[in-house]
Amino acid sequence: MVGPHRYVRVVTDTHAAPSHPDIGEVLVSTEEIASKITELARRVDADYAGREVLLVGVLKGAVMLMADLSRALETPVTMEFMAVSSYGSSTSSSGVVRILKDLDRSIEGRHVLVVEDIIDSGLTLSWLLKNLRSRGPASLEVLALLRKPESQAIDLDVRYVGFDIPSAFVVGYGLDYAERYRTLSFVGTLTPAAIAAGG
Ligand code: PRP
Repeated sequence: MVGPHRYVRVVTDTHAAPSHPDIGEVLVSTEEIASKITELARRVDADYAGREVLLVGVLKGAVMLMADLSRALETPVTMEFMAVSSYGSSTSSSGVVRILKDLDRSIEGRHVLVVEDIIDSGLTLSWLLKNLRSRGPASLEVLALLRKPESQAIDLDVRYVGFDIPSAFVVGYGLDYAERYRTLSFVGTLTPAAIAAGG
């Protein structure tokens, strides 16, 4: 199972008002995301020195992270996208995973780094890793911006994690509620009114 984790209280400026009326609390600010991506990019650069990396972004949530991470890396990268469905518009995982869009190319012999916005139950990633491993990559690692250790139902070996957060439903920086809020530059919780309004 998932071991004990320390939650990082990440809002540094407690006077900063959430910059969207539907946001209850900012959990990870714009600045914190930016500096974490730089930090993770430097680790990836060091780990993959001299090799080309194939970034596999998991749509749609990972779009913002893919765009920012890929530009922060010095390592030469190519990009592929996959879309899998784990739980549609509701706020909790169903465990049902299906491919909505597959990779366009073979990953055989490639150094693959899966880029995920969030690991919630971990069921999506667990399924995805098994699927990708069967395609014969030279290496397969994961970079996730957010992880919810309390929600994780399965043990996963994730090499790069941005932030461990509590098990609240969060939106922003790619994460949605009924397809809204993906373009917020920070990650936060929704107000009860916004949840009741159905996004
Ligand atoms: C979200 C998120 C992860 C997955 C994590 O995707 O982007 O892929 O759920 O959940 P899990 O760890 O409990 O499996 P979602 O299915 O909501 O699609 P989206 O990225 O298009 O919003």
